[in-house]
Amino acid sequence: MYNIVLFGPPGVGKGTQAALLVERYGFKHFSTGELLRDEIKRGTPLGKEVQHLINAGSLAPDAVVIDLISERLEQHKESKGFIFDGFPRTTAQAESLDRMLAVHNTGIHIMMVLNVAEEVIIRRLQKRAVTEGRGDDADIGIIRKRFENYEKQTKPVIDYYRAQHKFHTVHGGDTPEETFLGIQKLIASYV
Ligand code: AP5
Ligand code: MG
Repeated sequence: MYNIVLFGPPGVGKGTQAALLVERYGFKHFSTGELLRDEIKRGTPLGKEVQHLINAGSLAPDAVVIDLISERLEQHKESKGFIFDGFPRTTAQAESLDRMLAVHNTGIHIMMVLNVAEEVIIRRLQKRAVTEGRGDDADIGIIRKRFENYEKQTKPVIDYYRAQHKFHTVHGGDTPEETFLGIQKLIASYV
């Protein structure tokens, strides 16, 4: 099993690159953001609990996202590998993920941070607000709040993986295909 953490600020292209990774390598993709939006759409108790947090650009509680991932790992334990997109987002989540993967006799192989200039990302998210109507893209104040939370709560996770010698960066500012070439090179240098 080969497991990747796809990391980076809001709107950097994690979901776009995850789709390309699934197509190329057949890994199973987990986006905690998508899982949470699905709970909200279905109006589940969990969805109702997190809706206001997500729409305000704040993080959902660690326990909620850890449970979502834990269930999925159990359901898909025969997969060739996992792509974690938008998870872990706190050091507590990173520690939990290591423990959960250890139960399945595996671990994280690569953590990659996509790098794109903030003004480029903001333009992409404002465009997506029009095409997809995601609540947390609708307002520049909420987008900025997501960036702030990334800086404060999520960036420290980089140190966690740096200490394990798993941290890498990939330039994500060109086309999705060019970014994906960088990702493929990184994976090839690792296996
Ligand atoms: P989440 O869904 O993870 O949102 P995010 O991190 O803000 O990232 P996005 O999904 O907006 O962007 P992305 O990096 O996937 O980029 P994409 O490929 O879509 O989380 C949402 C919320 O849920 C969080 O704010 C939090 O509240 C909660 N949450 C989620 N996980 C959590 C956790 N673990 N703990 C606690 N709370 C959690 O690209 C963006 C746009 O750019 C798209 O329109 C795309 O088409 C375009 N694009 C991509 N690449 C390119 C390119 N190279 N050139 C031009 N356009 C591009
Ligand atoms: Mg995404």
